[in-house]
Formats: sequence, structure tokens, C-alpha cells
Amino acid sequence: MITSELFLRDIKMFDVPEPKTKNRNESKWDRWGSSQWTYFADEIKQRINFFLFQRLRGNNIEVGGGWYLSYPDSAVVDLSSVCLNHNPAKEKLQFDLDIIGEGKKLPYKDNSFNSATLISVWQYLQHPKAVLGELERILKPGAEIYLINGQGAGPKECVVGRSRTEGLQEFFQELGYDTLVENIPDISGSVSEFQSVCVAMPDVDLFGDAPSRIQNKAQRKKQDEEICQDSSIFINAYVDWEMRNIVARLSKLSSFPVTRYSQEYLEKIETFSQKYHEQTGGIPLIFMEYSFEPELAMLTKEYKSFYGMMFFIGSTEKVDNYSETADEMLKKYELGFTRHLNYFKQPTTTCLIEYCAEFKLKKEDYWSGTNGNETELRRFAVFISSLGLNSFTRKLQAQVYDRLQPNVPDLDEQIQRQRAFGYKMATYEHKQKRNIDELIDVKKRIAEDGVPIVETRKLDYVPILPMLRQFIK
Ligand SMILES: C[S@@+](CC[C@H](N)C(=O)[O-])C[C@H]1O[C@@H](n2cnc3c(N)ncnc32)[C@H](O)[C@@H]1O
Repeated sequence: MITSELFLRDIKMFDVPEPKTKNRNESKWDRWGSSQWTYFADEIKQRINFFLFQRLRGNNIEVGGGWYLSYPDSAVVDLSSVCLNHNPAKEKLQFDLDIIGEGKKLPYKDNSFNSATLISVWQYLQHPKAVLGELERILKPGAEIYLINGQGAGPKECVVGRSRTEGLQEFFQELGYDTLVENIPDISGSVSEFQSVCVAMPDVDLFGDAPSRIQNKAQRKKQDEEICQDSSIFINAYVDWEMRNIVARLSKLSSFPVTRYSQEYLEKIETFSQKYHEQTGGIPLIFMEYSFEPELAMLTKEYKSFYGMMFFIGSTEKVDNYSETADEMLKKYELGFTRHLNYFKQPTTTCLIEYCAEFKLKKEDYWSGTNGNETELRRFAVFISSLGLNSFTRKLQAQVYDRLQPNVPDLDEQIQRQRAFGYKMATYEHKQKRNIDELIDVKKRIAEDGVPIVETRKLDYVPILPMLRQFIK
């Protein structure tokens, strides 16, 4: 019963209304794309971005980009307006590439772009030869087209012959274009699941038209062979690149303001906690897991980005008795926290502290945790490394740490790891967005709008970097 209810709820999430458009093709892609296309996972998309970043220069045209932008300096063309709405590109064009088969042209001048990228698109086109003709017109002589596809696409999804490397290569070679296949290794080290077929446009030289020829082909082939032998060459370079991206962002928040609004908000949480304790004797634990300090410090009336959690410690019976009081008080203080029961198995803080003092490490504490299950030790490390939002929590965090520390030799490392995970959550790219970019923007707006601040703090991110690097890998 429960399973089927959950299942129905999940389906509803993706059950987007049929868009109002007469073009059936557009309607189909709008519908698929509006649940935000997740054909390739974020981390694969990021490695594709890195692959292209190493190769592209100047302006690019991203054909069938959907909501995905693989190279910053790109104009994106797509059929689906819903997908394009999500796309962060500056220049976007809604266009049905199939009408090129009827003689229509893309609205760009000849020789406009330095390259074209098509990521999981070619197999869906009705008139690929006509589209190729248009691309050749709008690309500069000698420009390269990159067609990147996962090699696992099934026959139901597309015209397989044009989604796989061999089919793509054959298509372009038969038309006289020079091509080059390159691999984009998986983070696990496997190569050949994601491949790029690069196609060179005909060139011009001193004597006039010159045939299509991939630049530095022999050297690039050799590099690809090396990567196939040892994919860590690619993966390490990717991790370095991603770390440079992250550090560039973190450095923009190396000092950050604490707004008066944030301070008042914390004071409100403290007052609420004390009043709740007075009325019920219960201890509310309020904290932000996987914390990233600026999220809490830069709150403004318009902008609130943090997700605090509230747990009540105490016997279930006692907490249950006071749940109405808690709800009323949370409402009164306008604290949008959801209430949870015990975070720890122990029913009282005294029991918890005693438990930590006698804590014995078990083998399971170092299991990575199947199905994402937390081990007991990890749960303590998460609690200690969280931002405590009231004095009850901060005191308990210190006590848990003191009691646990003699029993867990690598406790500090575990805590550091959890802190780094908070940084990962803030800096990592999900659906073309990173939380940290929004925070950088908020910092700018706070300065520009003269939002009252109480102090400026430093973000000490350097010690976290080695751990953060491990998470990217
Ligand atoms: C599999 S999705 C890939 C999207 C994006 N490149 C990515 O990797 O996330 C295919 C994309 O091609 C677009 N598309 C399909 N047929 C098209 C057409 N005839 N004209 C323009 N775009 C089209 C779809 O709207 C969709 O965004």
C-alpha cells in the first residue's frame, strides 16, 4: 500500500501538463525537457564540459542544447522553449532544425561560429544532411563539430545508427569529412562509454578551398591512446580544473558579511529554544547539517538559503506530549523548521554523553554504508561538524566531541570530512547551478544595497581543500 502511494507521488512529480503548442515534436521535447532532462548525470556533463573546454576557442553554437550549456561562450539552439528557459546561455534561439529539410535557414550569417557542439542530438534529426549543410555555412572554414554521445543508448530512444560512434563516423566519412574519435573517461576509470566524434569543416588555404582536415590529428590520436591506457591522465586533469573552478569561487567568499538579519534570526532561534525549554523541560536541538557558514551569515529579508533542522531530544512520550506546544511556538516565532524526533538513539542528553564516553569502535563504523546508510560514528561526526543554531546544540556538540575523542583516534579527520562535504554541497554543480554562485551574488547585493551588517568574517577554506578534492574524484 505504502509503496504504491509513493510510486504514484513520484510519477506526479514528472507529470507536467501538455504544453500548448501545435508542433507535436516541440510538444514532445517540451514535455520531456520540462522535467529537466537528466539523460546524463551532472558529473558526466561536467566532464564533457572539461573535454570541450580543452578544445574550443572563440564562440560556439550549441545545437539541441536543451537546458544544457556545455561551453560558456555559446549560442544555444533548441526546439523546446521550456528547455531553453532553463538554459543559462546568454544567446538562445528556439528553432526546429527539421524545417531546414524544407529549405529554411538558421538565422545566422555565413562564417559566424568557431565550433559547434551536439550532445546527444544528431540521432533525433529528420534531415541530418541538410542540417550539416547549414552548419557548414554558419561555421568558419576549418571549424570543428563535436558530436558527443553515450554509447549505451537503446534502440527505443533514437536512431541507433546515428547515436553510436561507428554510425556517426561512417555518416560523415561517406560525405568526405575528416573525423576523429576521442574518449571521455568515466570517473570510475572506464573509457569508451562517452565518446566524441569530431568532424572538420572544409578549410581554405592560400590556393583556395582545401579539404576537411582535423588539426593535429596524429598528436590528438596519440593523446587519446594514452588516456585509454591510463584514464587517470584525464581524470586528474579534470579534478585539477574543477578544483581551480571551486577555489576561484571560494576565494570570492574568503571574507563574508554577517547581516543584522542573520544575527536577529539566530537570536530569535535562541529565544524560542529557551522558552520551549522553560515550558516543557525538553531540549530542542537545532542545527544545519553539512554546513557552509556564509549560507547562514548572509540572510536578508528577501534571501534565505539555509535549511535548519530541529530535533527534540527526550523520551518519545514526553516529546509527544508537547508536540502541540512546539508547533504553536514555531508558528509564533515564524521559524519554518520541521520537527523531528530523536536524532540519536539515546533518549536523554545525559544518556547520550555517557554513551559517547564509553563508545567502542566497531568495524561497521568504517563501512562506507550501503544504500547511503549512515554509520553511528558518521552520524556523530555530522552532528559535531554541523552549525549549531542554539546554545543547547553548541554545548552538546562540545560535550559529544570531548567524550568521543579519546575513543576515536581519527575523530578530527571524520569531522573535517563532514565539513568538506558541506563545502561540496555548496560548490558542486547540479543542473547547471552551484549554490555558491548565488551566495557570491548575494554578497554583491548586500554591498550594493547597503544591507546592514554586524561584522565581516573569514572563510578558512584552505584546510578543507584536500578532502574536497577527494569528493570530486
Ligand atoms: C537528448 S536531448 C539532449 C539535450 C542536451 N544536449 C543535453 O545533453 O542535455 C535532445 C535535445 O535535442 C532537441 N531537439 C530534438 N529535435 C530537435 C529539432 N528538430 N530541432 C531542434 N532541437 C531539437 C530537444 O529539444 C532536446 O533538447
